[in-house]
Amino acid sequence: MIILKNNQLVQREEAIIDMEDRGFQFGDGVYEVIRIYEGKFFLMNEHLERLQYSLTETGIEFDIKKGKLAEQLEDLAEKNQIDDGAIYIQITRGIAPRSHPYPTEAIPTLMAYPIPISRPIKLQESGAKVILEEDVRWLRCDIKSLNLLGNVMAKQTAKEAEAFEAILYRNPEHVTEGSSTNVFIVKDGKVITHPANNFILNGITRRYIHHLSNQLGITFEEDVFSVDELLNADEVFLASTTSEVMPVTQIDDYTIGNGEPGSISRKLLDEFFKHVDTDQIRV
Ligand code: PDD
Repeated sequence: MIILKNNQLVQREEAIIDMEDRGFQFGDGVYEVIRIYEGKFFLMNEHLERLQYSLTETGIEFDIKKGKLAEQLEDLAEKNQIDDGAIYIQITRGIAPRSHPYPTEAIPTLMAYPIPISRPIKLQESGAKVILEEDVRWLRCDIKSLNLLGNVMAKQTAKEAEAFEAILYRNPEHVTEGSSTNVFIVKDGKVITHPANNFILNGITRRYIHHLSNQLGITFEEDVFSVDELLNADEVFLASTTSEVMPVTQIDDYTIGNGEPGSISRKLLDEFFKHVDTDQIRV
């Protein structure tokens, strides 16, 4: 496998991480996962803009445009002959003697490499089972930070329950998102999802669903909903780069709708399928 490390394409074995890299020690860094369909990056600009946002919010001095990251990623995908998959990119604050405050001299470490992805088509057809978990994460979930312990622990609980995802809630009145997905409910024909603020990651797929909803004439609203509203929704679905649009048919012991993927979820999924071979659409 060929890896992009800082500005160089190197073999995996050569891409060594220093023990005092702040990403390794503090989780002091940010990341993105960008999907590739049929050899083309999907919504690359949106992902890179969000990466820049995460960098700016964490005060990591790295200019994506100046670094020509888009071109480097295209090159990386080509060298690894990725037709269908994803690229994982992470940028840490760099290497410095262990001390909490931001070091003044550290140079950010960039690593990017391909990860295999297979489309979850079977589960999209049947609908997924998920569980509910309390959201115990920090209050800057808008930053795509490497600190994923809260997410990892929630996903592990889901796995142990043989569920696809954990849907998180701060309190019974406030459902936020999944451990690695955004959450949507459908009520009376309207798609409702959590507002894009510090409680959630503003998913690129979430924004794309907004765009698709507009195209299809489906009302899309950003609003906080409760656990009760979630369980009593007509439809529930998740969205992310890797799970695309994923209908949810069971939450803990509750069946959603009639236990099958709902019609609006299916419509959005069909529309998503039609578009994934192009990265021309801006959302
Ligand atoms: N996860 N919310 C959280 C907490 C996420 O980690 C993700 C993505 C999303 C959806 O964002 P997007 O549509 O931009 O992928 C929402 C990525 C894929 C991951 O960590 O692997």
